[in-house]
Amino acid sequence: MFLWGTATASYQIEGAAGEDGKGASIWDTFTHEPGRVRDGHTGDVACDHYHRWREDVALLAGLGAGAYRFSIAWPRVVPDGKGETEPRGLDFYDRLVDALLAEGITPVPTLFHWDLPQALQDLGGWMNRDISHHFADYAAVVADRLADRVEMWITLNEPFVHMAFGYGMGVHAPGQALLLDALPVAHHQLLGHGLATRALRAAGARQVLITNNCTPVWPASGSEADLAAADAYDTLHNRLFNDPVLLGAYPDLSAYGTTMNTVADSPLVRDGDLAIISAPLDGLGINYYNPTRIGAPTEPGLPWADVGVTGFPTTAFGWPVVPDGLRELLTGLKERYGDRLPPVYVTENGCSQDDVPGPDGVVDDQGRIAFLDGHVQAVERAAEQGVDVRGYFVWSLLDNFEWAEGYHQRFGLVHVDFETGRRTPKASYAWLRDRLKG
Ligand code: FCB
Repeated sequence: MFLWGTATASYQIEGAAGEDGKGASIWDTFTHEPGRVRDGHTGDVACDHYHRWREDVALLAGLGAGAYRFSIAWPRVVPDGKGETEPRGLDFYDRLVDALLAEGITPVPTLFHWDLPQALQDLGGWMNRDISHHFADYAAVVADRLADRVEMWITLNEPFVHMAFGYGMGVHAPGQALLLDALPVAHHQLLGHGLATRALRAAGARQVLITNNCTPVWPASGSEADLAAADAYDTLHNRLFNDPVLLGAYPDLSAYGTTMNTVADSPLVRDGDLAIISAPLDGLGINYYNPTRIGAPTEPGLPWADVGVTGFPTTAFGWPVVPDGLRELLTGLKERYGDRLPPVYVTENGCSQDDVPGPDGVVDDQGRIAFLDGHVQAVERAAEQGVDVRGYFVWSLLDNFEWAEGYHQRFGLVHVDFETGRRTPKASYAWLRDRLKG
């Protein structure tokens, strides 16, 4: 059965930042530091989903999609990241899961969508190997409560983006600009994924996935220098996170001056780690937004330069709209991983637009409808070309807090007035609902 769904993430929608015993996350800290987020926006209130969740479940029910991907805020459940759990936090997700199931909607929780407990950041965050173990303990707590009803679990969301934006460039929380020194964050997240997978299975979870952000990498030209640069970028963005999980080995990282594979080569990766990381999965989650065009480096530091994709329409974010890039990505994964590739779920895809309700209150987001239609067709072409794709989740159900962009990028099928919290389904919501009715 093909799973249709929408996706959200805790920090982006919940609000209730300090309520019911929730601990602070790195995003609570980061958004309150001047100059970090556009116009100083924070997720303190966001879509106020923590209080309006019933209304949001009703919107999901009205849409008729069979699944809903949301994330669990680690500091809501374990306020300090380790140790004491907060029953009120667990109760919130317990109620949400029951309400979804009552509507026939499959809940698909993600355990980590970037809101690390601040107390763990104070210990070094994902630069510290111990965090992987704390993550597995937290996974066990959540699964203990929900695995009797939740079939499908996602461990991490986009460990590449969390490493690169959060620890490499510092444009996301925790705001560190370590550049290539951030590489341990890749390994510790992946180890956390492996340990959490083990914990989830021990608690009876039936299906476990990881969600990676992937991009087709287009070389700027056929020159040797551009091809080598594109390969280096592909390695960092895609293979660094897919290879260890699917093949049990890190890709060749020599372009970055490290190999990460054996204990002798790197004190980071210990004996047995890769076996934990590559435990079999029931699916690979893929988030796709756009391809990337890469040329030879122009400045010292990185072995590539992002030269930008041109010649396509762009979203409000300025991201190129290339639906066929999704087909290319999916068939490319199949070519690369062959039988090692588990069923694939597109766990995020969508676009931001400057959606404003018209005088009649209607949000006529025809651009989003065209975007989604094109990408769904690309998924169909990938399936025809032999890729076992089993799901497609629209990012996002609701307009929400878009990280460093604050409330400026609207990705929702449902418009949210951030002054009043009022939800208005857009034309794209009706389009998807009608398409699903078929
Ligand atoms: C992805 C994130 C998601 C959302 C979209 C636009 O990288 O996983 O939270 O912000 O981008």
